[in-house]
Amino acid sequence: MKRREFLTTAVAAGTAGMIGLVTDSLQADPSNTLKKFQPIKFGIIADIHYGMLSDVEERLEKFLKQVEIEKPDFVISLGDFANPLPKNEAFAKKYKNAKCPTYHILGNHELDTVAKKEAIDFLKMPAAYYSFDVAGYHFVVLDPNYIFSDGKFIDYEKANYFKMSGKCEYINDEQCEWLAADLKAAKSPTFLFSHQSFLHDKFFIRNREKVMKILEQENKHAGFTKIIGHFNGHIHDNEFRVINGIHYFSINSASYWWHDQKVRGRYPAEMHKTNRALDNVMIYKDPLFCFVTINESGHFSLHGQKSQWLIPISDIAEAKDSRVVPHISNYETILNSSHVEFPSPPPAYLSESKLLRS
Ligand SMILES: [Fe+2]
Repeated sequence: MKRREFLTTAVAAGTAGMIGLVTDSLQADPSNTLKKFQPIKFGIIADIHYGMLSDVEERLEKFLKQVEIEKPDFVISLGDFANPLPKNEAFAKKYKNAKCPTYHILGNHELDTVAKKEAIDFLKMPAAYYSFDVAGYHFVVLDPNYIFSDGKFIDYEKANYFKMSGKCEYINDEQCEWLAADLKAAKSPTFLFSHQSFLHDKFFIRNREKVMKILEQENKHAGFTKIIGHFNGHIHDNEFRVINGIHYFSINSASYWWHDQKVRGRYPAEMHKTNRALDNVMIYKDPLFCFVTINESGHFSLHGQKSQWLIPISDIAEAKDSRVVPHISNYETILNSSHVEFPSPPPAYLSESKLLRS
């Protein structure tokens, strides 16, 4: 495709949703149009929380039905999928039987009743953190389920993290070393996944600056944007940012927004018989999930599901926060395979990042 045609296509595609065009970089390097991306599609579902609501199995089935239509190369669950107990094995099997390869990452709630090793075995994961390759891309699964206390990293297990406020959500040193080596060895455009967030102002990976610098340094050494983006769950919100050339996506829960006690008495009495913690959750009427597509010209598209609140909540303060919504926003950009620029000195991670959400 010639450069002129390429830019026209990019603008036309962007008008359908949120846009993050990087045309200045494309103009700076006309040869970029000659670089090809491998086409890929993958599906993401986050924080479905089996056992919390009575219809979670149905939510998973709707996702899997969409998987049959979309035919992605793989799907990944971003954690808080199910408590790793024998009674939940059929649910885990249902996901495993999707019509494409499936992947898991560990959420904090996978570690509420068991040790990390048991959760890994239940979800049939190769390890707590690992990487894999699909269709010409590299994918890295991180595990920030560590407590940092008295100079040591301790695994989350059996809900120990509940009592360690301010000392949770760490990526341990050993994992950081592994990550740097894994990224260095990777030859392909790379995405990362973790349950916890690099973005959130309160609930964030505590040593995020160290980890984000590893990603940025790898881009600098590679001489192109090897690390394209990162996806997290856990927050149950809808937030996208670009920080030093890397896209960060907080993917909304498939099921609900957690809301301490503020919806007490709002759901019909009979719903309490089959749903847990209804006084605390603002339920999404339909399951939320998204599909990410990259075509050979580097057009990146994240297409998210839209829903509504199951009950009216407009009087609740958080409902006025644009991150607290019953949907996953669409996002589109043109990936730049040519180069990455670093300002000097680097900007503060979040204060100068570009906010991308509708
Ligand atoms: Fe979580």
